[in-house]
Amino acid sequence: MTPEQLMTLAKEAMTHSYSPYSHYKVGAALLCADGTVYQGCNIENASYGPTVCAERTAIFKAVYDGHRDFTAIAVCGGKDGVITGQFPPCGVCRQVMREFCEDDFKIYLTNPDGTCEEMTLAQLLPCSFRAAEHMKA
Ligand code: THU
Repeated sequence: MTPEQLMTLAKEAMTHSYSPYSHYKVGAALLCADGTVYQGCNIENASYGPTVCAERTAIFKAVYDGHRDFTAIAVCGGKDGVITGQFPPCGVCRQVMREFCEDDFKIYLTNPDGTCEEMTLAQLLPCSFRAAEHMKA
């Protein structure tokens, strides 16, 4: 699957966004090592804090279904669903990626003209914390 194909699925996921407070629609499409794709959108809450990002929605759906081996994620978003620039994952989502993904995990961001930029988790979250093997029971 090309970055552009994965981004098309992220754009579709964006239309599922529940964002009555910020009006930012965000979509993500997570590619598993076996080729399965999980889509996610942001889901907001009147209490703001419980809001979950599109990336975590996709990752948690996949983990629930038994997937833990991920290759790439495409992320896009914008006010009222209009993409005016790249939409990089927040710090919390980067840390959730770190739990399951290696340094070379790919993050695709889209530009308004439809071109995709590829980054790695190591670039977006350098010097990161991850559990030592003995911490995982
Ligand atoms: N949001 C995401 O879905 N992903 C991110 O990585 C950053 C922020 C959402 C959360 C909230 O619903 C909206 O964007 C505005 O912050």
